[in-house]
Amino acid sequence: MGGRDGSGQGRHEGDRMSPFSRRAFLSATALVVAGCSTGENSLVLPTDPLVNRAEAARRGTGRTRAVTLTATEGQVDLGGPVVRTWSYDGMLPGREIRVGAGDLIEARVANRLPADTSVHWHGLALRNDMDGVPALTQAAIRPGEDFTYRFVAPVPGTYWFHPHTGTQLDRGLYAPLIVEDPAEPGAYDAEWVVVLDDWLDGTGTDPDEVLAGLRRRGGHMMHGGTALGGDVDHPHHLVNGRIASAPLTFAAKPRQRARIRLINAGADTAYRVALGGHRMTVTHTDGAPVVPVDTDALVIGMGERYDVLVTLADGVFPLVAVAEGKTGAGLAVVRTAVGTPPGPDVRPDELRGEVVGQDELKATAPLPSRQPDVVHRLELTGGMMNYEWGINGRSDGLQRVRSGQRVRLEFRNATMMWHPMHLHGHTFQLNGPRKDTVIVLPGQTVACEFDADNPGQWMVHCHNAYHAEAGMMTVLGYEERR
Ligand code: C2O
Ligand code: CU
Repeated sequence: MGGRDGSGQGRHEGDRMSPFSRRAFLSATALVVAGCSTGENSLVLPTDPLVNRAEAARRGTGRTRAVTLTATEGQVDLGGPVVRTWSYDGMLPGREIRVGAGDLIEARVANRLPADTSVHWHGLALRNDMDGVPALTQAAIRPGEDFTYRFVAPVPGTYWFHPHTGTQLDRGLYAPLIVEDPAEPGAYDAEWVVVLDDWLDGTGTDPDEVLAGLRRRGGHMMHGGTALGGDVDHPHHLVNGRIASAPLTFAAKPRQRARIRLINAGADTAYRVALGGHRMTVTHTDGAPVVPVDTDALVIGMGERYDVLVTLADGVFPLVAVAEGKTGAGLAVVRTAVGTPPGPDVRPDELRGEVVGQDELKATAPLPSRQPDVVHRLELTGGMMNYEWGINGRSDGLQRVRSGQRVRLEFRNATMMWHPMHLHGHTFQLNGPRKDTVIVLPGQTVACEFDADNPGQWMVHCHNAYHAEAGMMTVLGYEERR
């Protein structure tokens, strides 16, 4: 994701204000900034006092949750295969952060990697200067350096975090972030966080090598009869860091209700998820509550989250995440009784049952409808030939908005691949649910709307780590009349 040049060398002519920090922060949007400081409008930079003011307006609890994340290189055991990779504190997934809505998160990130990094808090409507996008909202954290993120987490939900640097998302650098709702009725007995991931790092290759290969040869496009195939062959599919032959077990009692928070942290894989012997009740997507609806299975794109409630039967059941259009699956075991655990290749019937998609969900608190003040058409462009992807044919666009506007983004997919499109810092309204990451199928147009209420510079990009790094990104830039 930041395939942008962090140094900004040679792109900054004409930028005279440039104290060093500003240069470092904004080199990526240098052209954009230069192009738009004409006239009376100027971009709201992450350093703008408006960003502080927006943060001050967030209702905080006064509680602080302090954590340290050490991004480190080392060996991790996937449940048999041991890989050398990059992770937070040697754990896969990294240690969950859990706070109450309105708590202040103070996360010190120690970069002990041999490369620059950053941490992006996916889905949170947080202050712009803590959004973790190198060259756009902060300077990259250099090897050996520390950086402390400090922000209020205002809205309850299931979130996660990962770097916003190169292809690092496809290493082991990811972890859940759960913002609890103090008003949650708590109608469940157990709560399980389930993180899905496609894995290749340390298996004789790494994500940078894979991207270089895609650029040399083009991708293989593994569609396998579904629109949701990927470009890359990942040898393993993990549930909470474990391969299917060494699954984790979630234990509970029969008839108990479990809330399962599903997060797709994969780089290039959509997962079809089902719990054998059960229907699931979908209650949230991307953190936002929906009118509860029952389903046999769900399809979850990269970056998306779904929360489901399940009333547990008596026995031992497979929770399976099949890689769409690829071979392989991730597995966890749900156990409420003694019995033989399912094997790694188990494929419960529910996988072939009903799938509730994003179009069938309804937000419990929809955005009140209103005429959009501004419409941005974002055509998703590119292809596998030279492995170049873009938005409106480029990777450095700017979509201007102003505080207070109702904004409409229309994603039109002009490619032959599907794309999970993600907007930073906002939750948008689709025709149905509210989300921050939306699947756009080949040939499809999907519109989303939101109120511009979080000033700053925000990425809009495909959450396929390889597509984003190959250019499928743009910036939603707030500007103000001065
Ligand atoms: Cu989880 Cu910019 O992404
Ligand atoms: Cu994409």
